[in-house]
Amino acid sequence: MRVTIDLPLTVDRESPVPLAAQVAGQLREAMRTGRLRAGERLPSTRALAALLGVSRTVATDAYQQLYAEGWLDGRHGSGTYVADDTLPYEQPGAQAVEARGAARREPAPPGWVDLRPGRPWVFGYDTAAWRRAWRSAGELALNAFPDPYGHPELRELLADHLRRARAVPVGAGNVMVTRGTGNGLDLIAATLLGPGSRAGVEEPGWRAARRIFASRGAEVVPCPVDEQGVIVEALPDDLRVLYTTPAHQFPVGGRLPIPRREKLLAWARRTGAIVVEDDYDAEFRYDVAPLPALYGLDPGRVVLLGTLSKSLGPDVGLGWLVAPADLLDAVAERRMHLADRTSGPVQRAVATLLERGDLDRHLRRMRLEYARRRAAIVEALGPYVRGDTAGLHVMVSLPAGVVPGLVRRAGERGVLLDTTEAHHQGPPRVHGLVLGYGSASRADVRRGCAVIRELIPPEGA
Ligand SMILES: Cc1ncc(COP(=O)(O)O)c(C=O)c1O
Repeated sequence: MRVTIDLPLTVDRESPVPLAAQVAGQLREAMRTGRLRAGERLPSTRALAALLGVSRTVATDAYQQLYAEGWLDGRHGSGTYVADDTLPYEQPGAQAVEARGAARREPAPPGWVDLRPGRPWVFGYDTAAWRRAWRSAGELALNAFPDPYGHPELRELLADHLRRARAVPVGAGNVMVTRGTGNGLDLIAATLLGPGSRAGVEEPGWRAARRIFASRGAEVVPCPVDEQGVIVEALPDDLRVLYTTPAHQFPVGGRLPIPRREKLLAWARRTGAIVVEDDYDAEFRYDVAPLPALYGLDPGRVVLLGTLSKSLGPDVGLGWLVAPADLLDAVAERRMHLADRTSGPVQRAVATLLERGDLDRHLRRMRLEYARRRAAIVEALGPYVRGDTAGLHVMVSLPAGVVPGLVRRAGERGVLLDTTEAHHQGPPRVHGLVLGYGSASRADVRRGCAVIRELIPPEGA
């Protein structure tokens, strides 16, 4: 692997811009323009400091900033790399995808088994119901003044869905229709965060959450999780916002137990933080019913984000944000300023799917299919599987040293994998694979797991 020590980096000691920000800025630009490419290794902080004639602290601070923004990956014990998905625009030739390993933005080349997490099965919906939904959207007149809260009838339907499915005591007045979790989180960040504020994200956790907070100027603080979810005792007292996935921690897979939920809310009340609950895959549980949403335990301190990205697909571009009325009003105002909105026809189509029970029917069918795929993984890799019987991914726990070689060799055999290491902000503390079974057929899941099983060394259990 090429170690990038020939970058034309410079520092200007006369400039008012701090040295670490200068170095981070030049590296960021090099990654943005493709001069530094996904998977490339950067020099150690010691080598970088020597190269530039600056202190090691300057080099460390520059890297820390780029980690926080998601540009860099720290893989255990083996240096600092340009993160896998900083290079989205290249054609996904087999070689390119193999080199990136955990890249998420392009589909896998034909014939590959794609076990990366994050994508649902987008072929399972009832096409007649889908067409009917779009016919109803076509009958809607266009609105010159889209409502930043969303269509009133869809807000009612979503509130009803949340009361039934998530035991959330909510009325339509607390619901805003968004384009998905990312959009909802960005609106919260734009409303509550800015330079100088600190925002917590689970560690390991959803990379997009980190990038969204950083892009609104906040300092991103990694908040460690264990097998049950976020560790409340480890939370600092000065967070403005904490992003968390209590129903099914991403990527480790824990379900936050009730006593810990109570502790988390006590922490939020004491510190004044807002807890953002990402309920991204709560529709998919295969054993017991999901625990009621955190929002229901303290509607004053929690913002709940939901999405159709897992139940139907990210292409639909629809989600919801549930918040206390005063916060929701502030978000709506900010949304207007940002000229941000959810498509009216999409809202109408989704309302039809909800009204007619088509979405519920689809979810019932998909639950059966996903449960079978999950069972195929457990059958092949049982002793290594971690996480609740839920969602569209499992974690496969492996010793740290095993993971990079396994991912590479699986890639050589046409199996695309993602790692828990890739979902850390700082040095990885949880090691293994994050296996997604949403977008792979049952046959592909079996094929992929057989390859993984063969590649786990005997002492890997
Ligand atoms: C943890 C998590 N939350 C939410 C989402 C969905 O985000 P969106 O609704 O913006 O598509 C994903 C998708 O990959 C995810 O992994």
